[in-house]
Amino acid sequence: MDMKILVVGGGGREHAIVSALSRNSDAEIYSVMSVRNPGIEKLSERVYIAKETDVSAIIRFAESVGVQYAVIGPEAPLEAGLADFLEEKGIGCVGPGRAAARLETDKGFCREMMQKHGVAGCPFYRLFNNTEDACEFVLEYDGDLAIKPVGLTGGKGVKIMGEHFEKEGAVEYIRSLSGGVVLEERLIGEEFTLMAFVDGRNLVPMPLVQDHKRAFTGDVGPNTGGMGSYTMADHMLPFVTPGDYEKAFEIMKDSVALMEKEGHLYKGILYGQFMNTAEGPKVIEFNARFGDPEAMNVLTLLSSDFTDIVKAIVEGTLHECNVTFHEMATVCKYLVPEGYPENPKSGDPLFLNNPGEAHMYYANVIEEDGRLYTGKSRTLAFVGMAESLTRAEEIAESAAASVEGAVRYRKDIGTEEVLRKRILHMKEIR
Ligand code: AMP
Ligand code: GLY
Repeated sequence: MDMKILVVGGGGREHAIVSALSRNSDAEIYSVMSVRNPGIEKLSERVYIAKETDVSAIIRFAESVGVQYAVIGPEAPLEAGLADFLEEKGIGCVGPGRAAARLETDKGFCREMMQKHGVAGCPFYRLFNNTEDACEFVLEYDGDLAIKPVGLTGGKGVKIMGEHFEKEGAVEYIRSLSGGVVLEERLIGEEFTLMAFVDGRNLVPMPLVQDHKRAFTGDVGPNTGGMGSYTMADHMLPFVTPGDYEKAFEIMKDSVALMEKEGHLYKGILYGQFMNTAEGPKVIEFNARFGDPEAMNVLTLLSSDFTDIVKAIVEGTLHECNVTFHEMATVCKYLVPEGYPENPKSGDPLFLNNPGEAHMYYANVIEEDGRLYTGKSRTLAFVGMAESLTRAEEIAESAAASVEGAVRYRKDIGTEEVLRKRILHMKEIR
């Protein structure tokens, strides 16, 4: 029987997922997304337009086309329990059930679990259900804090004292929130992402990635979903020692094991975002899915068959699965609409010229009568893949520069200069 796979989500990450699934196999792809993604559409047997959280509509579609597997891209359907419902119908999922996905969807739960099970790398934190108590804590605490609404915010809800505001601004921000809030020590260091394929017990790591969350060149401005990212040819990062890497991977393994102890087998992708501090890696957060943009780096690099990995995750046989990545560097640059993330302009025409050797992934692009227009979210991404970071950056840069329209991107991502800055920063704090 032909392999039929459902892919949920319509962003750049999901275009990278679908590209990787189609690259080495003749699996049929069936896609669900709320806004039609022209890149995914080209690679799919069928596209069904529905909200990614509309669980019953997605189940009906999945059953009607007869998929055996599903890969769930974004976090919102995980929180809605899509994986649980698909599994009930006998459809194997890459993506944890609702209870296990709380590692991402409930920041308070994540911290409490790490503390309860003594997982290393948990920063000092306090969880508040009442915003006035949180404000009081901020006023009394001697030092800077990270302020995190407990629920999902699309990567845009976290604000940092000493960067976005001082005490008074922090109090004002907390008062504007509803629901719980986590306050935690502000970690100083260099961020990196370690993602792993997880089958419930076994983890297979992917190359280390560094994302750039800030809107503007030089790491200033508001947090975004991620403006771009890079990986090195050796799959490590020059400011992460092998010892740091081992610690980070242990933390990921311990976290998967604790979910099993709690009775929630964790299957899918585990995304660890770490701050490499003077004392080693600390967990900024876990995500229950691929990072976006990080997925575009690692899935462009993936040289083995992604459909084999999907089967192994579902069957619990990852330890027997062949997982390989090209020994090359990648740089991903996201184009975003002007005004993103706070006041994105949308509906502007976009003209693609020659992207050269770059891989192009569509994100929030609207295609009408053969023309492309910007949406309110990240527009499209270019990934350069080459023997060296310098060459990978050149490929991504010239592709990004070739697009005409009301979009911008960060020119600094993946440059030697930024890399030197990161290495120097790490030397300063250690
Ligand atoms: P998150 O949405 O948790 O990924 O956080 C967004 C960004 O906020 C991260 O990429 C970090 O740059 C920053 N951040 C989150 N938590 C902390 C922390 N405890 N200390 C310093 N920066 C943080
Ligand atoms: N790149 C950060 C995220 O996907 O949450």
